[in-house]
Amino acid sequence: MKYIFPEGFWWGAAVSALQVEGASDKRGETTWDRWFKLEPNRFFDGVGPKVTSDFYNRYEEDIELMKELNFNSFRTSISWARLFPKGFGEINQEGVDFYNNLIDKLIENNIEPVIALFHFDMPMAMMDLGGFESREVVNYYEEYAKICFELFGDRVKHWVTHNEPIVPVEGGYLYNFHYPDVVDCKRGIQVAYNTAISSAKVVNLYKEMRAEGKVREDGRIGIVLSLTPSYPRSNNSADLKAARIADLFFNKSFLDPCVKGAYPEELVSILADRNMLPVVEEGDKNLLKEGVVEFLGFNYYFPRRVKVRENAVNAKAPFLPEHLFEYYDMPGKRMNRYRGWEIYAKGTFDTLINIKDNYGNLPIFISENGMGVEDEARFRNKKGYIDDDYRINFVKEHLKWLHKAIEEGCNVNGYHMWTLMDNWSWMNAYKNRYGFIEVDLEDDLKRTMKKSGYWFKEVAQNNGFND
Ligand code: GAL
Repeated sequence: MKYIFPEGFWWGAAVSALQVEGASDKRGETTWDRWFKLEPNRFFDGVGPKVTSDFYNRYEEDIELMKELNFNSFRTSISWARLFPKGFGEINQEGVDFYNNLIDKLIENNIEPVIALFHFDMPMAMMDLGGFESREVVNYYEEYAKICFELFGDRVKHWVTHNEPIVPVEGGYLYNFHYPDVVDCKRGIQVAYNTAISSAKVVNLYKEMRAEGKVREDGRIGIVLSLTPSYPRSNNSADLKAARIADLFFNKSFLDPCVKGAYPEELVSILADRNMLPVVEEGDKNLLKEGVVEFLGFNYYFPRRVKVRENAVNAKAPFLPEHLFEYYDMPGKRMNRYRGWEIYAKGTFDTLINIKDNYGNLPIFISENGMGVEDEARFRNKKGYIDDDYRINFVKEHLKWLHKAIEEGCNVNGYHMWTLMDNWSWMNAYKNRYGFIEVDLEDDLKRTMKKSGYWFKEVAQNNGFND
């Protein structure tokens, strides 16, 4: 069968500043630099974010590779700490030059830049003020965004306020995989709320600047969310409720304020019952209402399988969302065992239908999807490149569901792989490799296209594939 995608469909990949750029001495300290300094043992093989894939110095070579892959679009983020080493105040001109050159070079090569303002890399000076727990930092973030729009908004058409804003909440305040590494749901909820407020403020700012002709007239602003569809174990009403609660915490907590401009009442009442409501300011409701996004990026890796709680929770344990449901270990589920994530391609389709039916069929693209595999060098073939057929099959399967969603009327306009080239995956550092391009840590970060890259190149060229 032929799977052909709509004209102008985006083919590309995403990266993020901290995960690929390196050149850490040229930017201000981030929470990741600090955490690595304090506890290097928490990072796989003791590798920190100092060098990563050296994109800062090699972006021209990497854009050549994107060209070879027939990309027509590419997402990266701006490092707040590179532009403003202290989070505000004096600007680092070298950083401005870097992003100007990068954006120009992409456009010159007909690769549409999609630029995120925040991808997990909080400047340490801002974290010292409380990170997004503090409204002061929300204001500094808005100032930083304004400068980015002024500097790059004449060329960049697609802006993203945040990448996966739920993840710093989960990592930093619930499950110990981001700094500040505390377990405190109430604080996490404040961070989540303030992040949604920061997004709405920046969306409003962008819309104002556009109306005033200060950025491109055809520019758009959106957000990238990791949406993890919640599937109940059974149709039993208690299982259904458990899945609904998981969905409220992990999906609707951002989807609703960002797309509908308001929080779901059920989530508000669950939090109110536990005395966990965040501190709000006058005018916030209106801010959220007006600050709705114009497009959505959808990062998809795995579904969430849920059942009703079967064991009581220790009353002394700090509250976590899963006190209200339990994870369900479905027999026979397909796993990516390296990452411990279930592979369930239909989750893309189900989510896209949900966006079509319940969120006004807002324009959406797959902004990340991919498969991390450990020790990939063992798959090197005689020609010297990695035979990653598992990755090709993974992408193909997801693209088929995407195609079906488009046939059913979903407003999907692109597919971005996570990721262009192997990169530094936070605490996992270089453990699992995700790229179309191998980065050899033992050989001066040499780039070599994997089989999946050769495959994707054809798909992008033909705007689809046969299978
Ligand atoms: C996502 C995140 C990326 C990347 C990816 C693979 O959640 O946006 O930064 O690390 O997971 O682990």
